[in-house]
Amino acid sequence: MKLLLILCWVLGVSADVLHEDLWIIGCSDSDGEHMYTLEGEEVWYADFKKGEGVRPQPDFIDPIDYPGAYQFAVNEQQTCKQNLNTVREAEKDLPLENDPPSSLIIYSEDYLELGVKNVLICHVSGFYPAPVNVSWTKNGEKVTEGTSINRPFPNKDGSFTQISRLEFIPQQGDIYSCSVEHLALEQPLTRMWDVETTQPGVGPAVFCGVGLTIGLLGVAAGTFFLIKGNECS
Ligand SMILES: *[C@@H]1O[C@H](CO)[C@@H](O)[C@H](O)[C@H]1NC(C)=O
Repeated sequence: MKLLLILCWVLGVSADVLHEDLWIIGCSDSDGEHMYTLEGEEVWYADFKKGEGVRPQPDFIDPIDYPGAYQFAVNEQQTCKQNLNTVREAEKDLPLENDPPSSLIIYSEDYLELGVKNVLICHVSGFYPAPVNVSWTKNGEKVTEGTSINRPFPNKDGSFTQISRLEFIPQQGDIYSCSVEHLALEQPLTRMWDVETTQPGVGPAVFCGVGLTIGLLGVAAGTFFLIKGNECS
């Protein structure tokens, strides 16, 4: 199976802001992709199984309309498949390139507070082809409950990004891991994440306290000299 990806990268320049608009069309024998992104966010894609366009952005973002986009996407898929066949004929034994993920990061979605519900994010990027399989462990035990993964998101260099989520409640000493399987990896790539070491601890509170104390001392000293000065004159 071969995949043809067409990337169309438009840089829109207005007075002083630079916007980045990416349009991606891809097809294989069994599947197709047609999507628009703005500033790296997916704003519209064609769901060819359901036969409609989808706007995956949350409600608080003003919707952008692409009139006639779904029909256009369907037509483009035909062109893509024809091109795919032409390319396939021309380059008979072209090997498929596999790139392993170039980046794997774990972080929590919200500010970490012990005992408060949060989400761990495993952000995998730079791989080709899609998808990756992501699995989670908590203290060495596999976890599947509360996990989800998004559709592969194409980057402008033709590689993909996927984000897996794990709902969790941070407890002191718990250790989580996220493992990623990909065609180009012989062994899964794993990152650990530890509630203890990522706790911000007392640092900020102490700095804030010391800062406030010094500030108040300054005000007190200033007031003292002000009164002294007035007494002398
Ligand atoms: C992902 O998991 C499925 C089901 O276990 C397996 O068939 C597939 O080969 C895995 N993909 C990768 C890239 O490891």
